[in-house]
Amino acid sequence: MPQVIGVPRETASGEKRVATVPEVVEKLIKLGFSVSVESGAGDAANFSDDTYRAAGATVVDNAAALWSGSDIVFKVRGPSAEEVALMREGGALVSFIWPAQNPDLMRQLAARRVTILAMDSLPRMLSRAQKMDALTSMAGVTGYRAVIEAAHAFGRFLTGQITAAGKVPPAKFFIAGAGVAGLAAIGTAVGMGAIVRANDTRAEVADQVVSMGGEFVKVDYEEEGSGGGGYAKVMSEGFQKAQREMYAKQAREVDIIITTALIPGKPAPKLITAEMVQSMKPGSVIVDLAAEQGGNCELTEPGKLVVKHGVTIVGYTDLPSRLAKQSSTLYATNLFRLAEELCKTKDGVINVNMEDDAIRGLTVIKDGTVSWPPPAPKVAAAPAGAPAKPMAAPPAAHGHGSQGAPMSGGKLAAMFFAGAILFWFIGANAPAAFLAHFTVFILACFVGYMVVWNVTPALHTPLMSVTNAISSIIAIGALVQISPPMDDAATRPGGWILGMAVAALVLTAVNMFGGFAVTQRMLAMFRR
Ligand code: NAI
Repeated sequence: MPQVIGVPRETASGEKRVATVPEVVEKLIKLGFSVSVESGAGDAANFSDDTYRAAGATVVDNAAALWSGSDIVFKVRGPSAEEVALMREGGALVSFIWPAQNPDLMRQLAARRVTILAMDSLPRMLSRAQKMDALTSMAGVTGYRAVIEAAHAFGRFLTGQITAAGKVPPAKFFIAGAGVAGLAAIGTAVGMGAIVRANDTRAEVADQVVSMGGEFVKVDYEEEGSGGGGYAKVMSEGFQKAQREMYAKQAREVDIIITTALIPGKPAPKLITAEMVQSMKPGSVIVDLAAEQGGNCELTEPGKLVVKHGVTIVGYTDLPSRLAKQSSTLYATNLFRLAEELCKTKDGVINVNMEDDAIRGLTVIKDGTVSWPPPAPKVAAAPAGAPAKPMAAPPAAHGHGSQGAPMSGGKLAAMFFAGAILFWFIGANAPAAFLAHFTVFILACFVGYMVVWNVTPALHTPLMSVTNAISSIIAIGALVQISPPMDDAATRPGGWILGMAVAALVLTAVNMFGGFAVTQRMLAMFRR
């Protein structure tokens, strides 16, 4: 019996998004589900009841009927107390929950003996989870909309122009925090012709800023800002002082500041002081994307647009909702990808598999039992040996078995000695031809190790597909076997060698073209 996915109208005030869109309804039905949508659920995002009906959904008149008739509910915002009361025992809900910030909601939900999948709790560093990452899609929309809000409040063009009426300089942006939203803002502002500078505490971000067309401005203080899982940490007093000096200089120079800096589980760092706002040119704009977490600017008023010292400070906390059609479509696609993972059998019945890392992370309540927080993620965003210059050197007696702990000098010397003896033994006994191949083999292992271990895990998939393609160089070996001097009977290959060579050639050809094609597809995802 196929399960029913229900999509209620969002009840939070001002929320215009909807958890599914007609285009995605069709795909959910193909997965075997039935889809019910509450009447008017998509109105604010420009999706009428009729478009849902045309896509195959049943339109239900009111919330109570929708909740009671659904096995799985898809929502954007976490449920209100009234909605929790409407939930069906044994049912499932997929929405944003923010379990750490909402312990009461978690208690209420657990008491209903339901299963809750929180879109904010997805382990983001799993490459497989990227297609379900609603935080990233919403942050992308937020970054884009921040530039639009800034452009709207700013009294000039963003792009530079030379007109008959005079020369207009391009607007200068400074982006504080270049995570997903910051990078989206950089791309949008650069696309609109502005000059964009950005700063972040995580060193690995610098290249990403440049690749989006921005300029990375460094703080004159050595300290790595990665706090694990790809997120930032609270920086030292010394760093914060140096950072304030640099930000004060930027505030005097630029026209628009967009701040996005967040540290998980902590209030947003205060990066833009009242004095910095005062030092900005009249007519300048600040868009504070951290407003909901207290704001990166001292003068931000969450949810409001205020003008202070002649500077417009935008503290809206509903930017994705202000682009409701776009964010609903992206969010609906993230939920569809999740539905695919939950229903691999395509029979319209979900299986919340707690052995699957991505599903385990998302599931904050399973059949009424709280399963949050999940076990620590296994993959970090940056390589274990990423720049750690400012950290103090580990003590000499560091645990031997601990990962990344430097080996003691004596142990290293013993290993080299053992290796040297082994090589001498092989050199003295093996045939000369073997030795040449063996040397190449050892060097290849070393180069391969250095390449793979020094690349960020997030980039392993494209790296593997391209190295896979390059490994097809072994095709040359097969070609040599197929075409020896045919007049020399002694070197003419036997039938089975020829057969193996042809098979090797066919397989490597698949490997070669497949590897390059996959890499090409992945790179195309980053192109406009
Ligand atoms: P976020 O929203 O938690 O923070 C925004 C940015 O502010 C971060 O880049 C952070 O480093 C920066 N920041 C924090 N404190 C700061 C300070 N005092 N001064 C300046 N900047 C400061 O981050 P978001 O956008 O959620 O992304 C976090 C990380 O996760 C990023 O590296 C992102 O690329 C990564 N990520 C990786 C994914 C994957 O591999 N599948 C998916 C999504 C995100």
